[in-house]
Amino acid sequence: MTCHDRILLDDWHVVADLEHLRQHSRQSAELFEQQLDINLRADGSAEVRHKETGRVLPSQIKYGFVWVCVGTPSRDIIEIPEAGEADRYVVSGGSFPVRASGLRVVENFLDMGHFPFVHTGWLGEEPHTEVAPYQVELTPDDEIIATECYFYQPVASPTAEGGIEVEYKYRVYRPYIVSLYKTNPAYPDRKDYIVLFIQPVGPEDCVVHNMLCYLKEGMNEPDIRWFMQLIFAQDKPILENQLPKRLPLDPRAETPIRADKVAILYRRWLRDHCVSYGAIPAA
Ligand SMILES: [Fe+2]
Repeated sequence: MTCHDRILLDDWHVVADLEHLRQHSRQSAELFEQQLDINLRADGSAEVRHKETGRVLPSQIKYGFVWVCVGTPSRDIIEIPEAGEADRYVVSGGSFPVRASGLRVVENFLDMGHFPFVHTGWLGEEPHTEVAPYQVELTPDDEIIATECYFYQPVASPTAEGGIEVEYKYRVYRPYIVSLYKTNPAYPDRKDYIVLFIQPVGPEDCVVHNMLCYLKEGMNEPDIRWFMQLIFAQDKPILENQLPKRLPLDPRAETPIRADKVAILYRRWLRDHCVSYGAIPAA
């Protein structure tokens, strides 16, 4: 095992989309450069085996995904109350392989500054390029939360009609799990919710599984998926062309160029938790 980070080894990671597994009843996956065999049992549960040793690993099915722990689980899979709300579509938006560290994917997801340049005409457009000041905090539960994030978006959602100022809230639950809450035009006091469960295949390779919890009113399922896939297809080449492919944790390694307070806290939080897999650790 090339990953030595206990915080990662003893945590749960998504390795398969349940719908995909149901279609094939077995599939292979890779996590921390370890090959896994995943089988769907007759009772609907999943069995995940380490291919080389044959060892059966702790696994669970939750939120429409297969989760596995390669070490000894030290905590539960994250709680997502939105996934249980009947007036939301709760769907997988797809599983995308990306040739970059999953930590890079998290940081990109947290960055509003790239909207006008990478998602031009959708999540941003010139001249609305400035990231206004926002709040960032580390919660007592050891999560990173960014609030009061406002950004002008020409096409903020699959059903948007004209540009709006969107409010985001970001949340980093675990080193490889990040979500956002986003304005829903129909409900001023509720938000659409998107979470990325990132599977660290290797230190410079990952699969990004995403779950979408959109309020149903005025939406339909295929459009939500289509929108997510469109946006992610714009991020993928940017992520894959970033160098170095691992996320540098030394505060002096990369000068954050935009208003990325949240990225600075994320890197510090990774350092404090001794996360090195997918990172270039601080000297
Ligand atoms: Fe993006």
